[in-house]
Amino acid sequence: MTSFHFFNRVLQSFVITNLLCTNAHGENEPCEPHIRDDLNKNTCSDNSKPNSMALVVYTPTHLSAFREETKTFTFAGQTVTIRQRWEELGVAAVVWDAAVVLAEYLESNAQQLNLSGKSVIELGAGTGLVGTVAAVLGSKVVLTDRQLALDQLQANVEENGQESGVRSGMISVQELSWGENLQEFETPFEIILGADIVYVEDTFPKLLQTMVHLSNRDTLVLLSCRIRYARDERFLDMMRERFSVVEVLHDRSRDIHVYQARLL
Ligand SMILES: C[S@@+](CC[C@H](N)C(=O)[O-])C[C@H]1O[C@@H](n2cnc3c(N)ncnc32)[C@H](O)[C@@H]1O
Repeated sequence: MTSFHFFNRVLQSFVITNLLCTNAHGENEPCEPHIRDDLNKNTCSDNSKPNSMALVVYTPTHLSAFREETKTFTFAGQTVTIRQRWEELGVAAVVWDAAVVLAEYLESNAQQLNLSGKSVIELGAGTGLVGTVAAVLGSKVVLTDRQLALDQLQANVEENGQESGVRSGMISVQELSWGENLQEFETPFEIILGADIVYVEDTFPKLLQTMVHLSNRDTLVLLSCRIRYARDERFLDMMRERFSVVEVLHDRSRDIHVYQARLL
């Protein structure tokens, strides 16, 4: 193990933050540095300035799940295998509960959503679970994320390949950093997917801009979120200025909300 990897391992085991955040219930709590590489950006909401030392964050349960090299799921009778690389890549390379809940939602509502043949884009795809399940269910999917996540995303696409029943050409990987180079995408998409992508307030305007750019009035946006902090609700408020937003599921056991939205 190189000293870089050793340092990363230590960092990920004991993430120290001196920040408190206002949670969704208006209470102060240690900020969850939800993203290792965005740690510096992960400041508290404006009304909860840093005010104490706290040692948090990923519980042993989180960490042991993140450290599993592969996660295997069954959707629509097909096996989907996802490789994780938490030690090297952090949050973009592990499967979050919001992804599992959204993938299950797609499976349970595939007919109603009429997924077969739909053009779908996933934002902040991470390991690509959600988009892969959309492709298993017959959609033509573009999985997107920042540059750092793309090798891992591509590797997961190749790993699943035809074994998961996805026809060739039905799934591809493309860089999309929110708000950037949006003209490279053929718009509009019929469905936009996003799992656990609402957490860094700095990114909210560009995330919203991206959703608007990729949509027309027929586009369905499906977003799954854990509402951790007051700022997460603020993204939904921002979204309501451009989209009609309806909560269609709250998975209580995993505390994940699923929202459907359409351009106003
Ligand atoms: C918490 S992870 C969720 C990954 C995956 N959707 C899941 O639920 O398992 C957040 C994802 O958003 C991506 N992301 C964060 N900021 C982004 C940005 N500005 N542009 C594009 N993707 C971004 C990260 O790279 C990461 O893959």
